[in-house]
Amino acid sequence: MARIIGGYFTSHVPSIGGAIVRGDQQTPYWKPFFDGYPPVREWLAEEKPDVAVCFYNDHGLNFFLDKMPTFAVGAAEVYHNEDEGWGLPVFKSFEGHPALSWHIIEQLVNDEFDITTCQSMLVDHALSIPFELVYPDAPAWPVKLVPIAINTVQFPLPSARRCLALGQAVHRGLESWQGDERIVVIGTGGLSHQLDGERAGFINPDYDRFCMDSLANDPEALVADTTKEIVRKSGSQGVEILNWIAARGALGEGGFREKTRNYHVPISNTAAATMVLEPA
Ligand code: DHB
Ligand code: FE
Repeated sequence: MARIIGGYFTSHVPSIGGAIVRGDQQTPYWKPFFDGYPPVREWLAEEKPDVAVCFYNDHGLNFFLDKMPTFAVGAAEVYHNEDEGWGLPVFKSFEGHPALSWHIIEQLVNDEFDITTCQSMLVDHALSIPFELVYPDAPAWPVKLVPIAINTVQFPLPSARRCLALGQAVHRGLESWQGDERIVVIGTGGLSHQLDGERAGFINPDYDRFCMDSLANDPEALVADTTKEIVRKSGSQGVEILNWIAARGALGEGGFREKTRNYHVPISNTAAATMVLEPA
C-alpha cells in the first residue's frame, strides 16, 4: 500500500529562483529564509518519497484569464517548466505519474468534483521553486509529480472549505491506490502578500501565525472564512493559502506534528513560510 510520509508547505516567490541562480543563499537578505530548508531536505532524505502530489496555483502560464479552471489535475507523462515573465531561468522538467493521476481524477469525479484534466501542462515558478529549495543539487527530481492547480487568481475563487474537501477526496484516492509508493503532499504559495492595488505590500503576521498554528491539527479553523475574508486578512495573493489548505486535506484526518517551521518577512513582497507536517 502507498504511504503518505507527510506534508511540505512553502512559499514560492519567483525572486527565490534568482537568488538560487546567483548563489545568494548566505547573504544577509536571503540567509534567514534559506535557513528554513535544511531541515526539510534532511526529512526528505530520510523519508525518500517517490511521488509528490503538489497543490499550487498557476500564474498565467498554463492557464490565462480567458480559460481558468477552478481545479485542474495533471495527467501528463512530463511537465515542462517555463517562465511566465519574471526573467527566471527554465528549471528542470518533472516526470509525471499518469496512472496515479487518473486514479485520483476518478476519485475526484466520483466525489462530484468537476475538475479539468490536463494531459499536457506547463508548470511555473509555483512548482519549480519549491523543488529547487529542497533538492538543490539533484540532476533530476527524485520524485514523480501529480500536480493539482487551484484557481487563486481570478474571482470567483473556490471556498477554503471546498479546497479542504478537494484535498480530502485526493486523500481517499491515495488510500485506495494499490501501488507501494511513498508519497509527499506539497502545498505552495502564501503566506500573506499583496502585489497590486492600494494595499500592495500588505503583510499580516498575526493571520499567518494563526494559519501555521492551525494547520497541523485544526484545519477546520482555516475554512471558516469566505475567500473574500481571507483576501482581506492575507492580501489578494495571500489567498494562495488555499493550496496549503487543500494539501492539508490530502494528508488525511489523523493527528500531525510539526517537524519544522520557518517564517521570515519579507521575501520580495511576501511573508515567506516553510513547514513540514508528519503523522503524529
Ligand atoms: C511574489 C509572490 C508570489 O507568490 C508570486 O507568485 C509572485 C511574486 C512576490 O512577492 O514578489
Ligand atoms: Fe504566487
